[in-house]
Amino acid sequence: MKIIVTGGAGFIGGNFIHHMVNKYPDYEIVNLDLLTYAGNLETLKPVEGKPNYKFVRGDIADREFVYGLFEKEKPDVIVNFAAESHVDRSVVDPGSFVRTNVMGTTTLLDACRKYGIKRYHQVSTDEVYGDLPLDRPDLFFTETTPLHTSSPYSASKASADLFVLAYHRTYKLPVTISRCSNNYGPYHFPEKLIPLMISRALADEPLPVYGTGENVRDWLHVSDHCEAIDLILHKGRVGEVYNIGGHNERTNLEVVKTILRALDKPESLIKYVTDRPGHDMRYAIDPTKIEKELGWEPKYNFDTGIQQTIRWYLDNQDWWKHILSGEYSSYFENMYGERLSGK
Ligand code: NAD
Ligand code: DAU
Repeated sequence: MKIIVTGGAGFIGGNFIHHMVNKYPDYEIVNLDLLTYAGNLETLKPVEGKPNYKFVRGDIADREFVYGLFEKEKPDVIVNFAAESHVDRSVVDPGSFVRTNVMGTTTLLDACRKYGIKRYHQVSTDEVYGDLPLDRPDLFFTETTPLHTSSPYSASKASADLFVLAYHRTYKLPVTISRCSNNYGPYHFPEKLIPLMISRALADEPLPVYGTGENVRDWLHVSDHCEAIDLILHKGRVGEVYNIGGHNERTNLEVVKTILRALDKPESLIKYVTDRPGHDMRYAIDPTKIEKELGWEPKYNFDTGIQQTIRWYLDNQDWWKHILSGEYSSYFENMYGERLSGK
């Protein structure tokens, strides 16, 4: 079996490649990644040199390149992680999200039609369902919850999902989609809440909490997400959507305070800043379908997973310090400079 994993130099794709390369030595894993600001080959160091792994640099929205790669590699399966993934960046530059998340996905789907594949899997997000109110803890996203997006990021992901399902209905392409809640764990890019707060707390720098910090996210350890995608690829029903989440809802403030406690840093580092425009209030996944149909269950709960993750960031400071010293520093200044200085 040959699998092209797109976006494999990113956070979740990188963890998925580690999982697949080690678990299935007889599968060939091809990592297709453009190496945008979020792509980092240092994440792949542990699998570099393994006979069942190779890296190809390229753009999923470049049709000529993608067709050439399919012709050469003749993949059986595509798992599409490649995306612009950060909501804040989508507020500033929606166009790049349309290009990669929508045009990139349709380019891959066209290549699958042209060359034939056994399975196309789209890695999607719970953000396509919009958000839930804080005063209705009984409500959860199911696979039949209507799509109702808030940000240019989620709109681009929902659009991609609709194309994936349309290609199944119209062209009988064998597709599956997973919609996952917020991931955390090793190799998470330090623009996202958890690694951002860990890295800044370690440097005794202010921690920018948007709005009141009451927004709720449903945290899932990245290795539980990887297990779920592995299961869907092997046992999931074609044409189906599977929600992935482990009932680990926390407010942002709870998450930040947990990190501060674990690092023995004061809560006075918390700085409330201007809210994210269109900020979703609460995400919460109902994972009943994947649990019942495929027997998936998460191994981590947030309380132990976050401690292990903080330990990883303490033990792997070179990995994230390289990132912080690069292009990211000018992004941070543009995104937070005025908010943190109170302007
Ligand atoms: P990430 O930003 O860490 O990584 C994205 C990767 O895609 C990078 O390696 C980047 O170089 C690559 N990439 C970007 N544009 C590309 C292009 N045009 N061609 C080829 N490669 C390109 O993202 P992530 O957090 O690992 O998310 C992976 C996927 O999972 C995304 O599709 C995202 O929407 C989805 N998702 C993420 C989360 C989360 O909590 N991080 C939760 C649910 C779903
Ligand atoms: O739910 C799945 C989604 O989770 C994925 O589809 C996205 O790709 C992924 O980036 C993530 O989106 P969020 O917007 O939920 O994640 P982020 O880490 O950016 O923010 C988490 C929460 O923390 C959110 O309520 C905003 C808040 N936040 C974030 C940052 C970066 C802050 O308060 N301060 C910050 O500086």
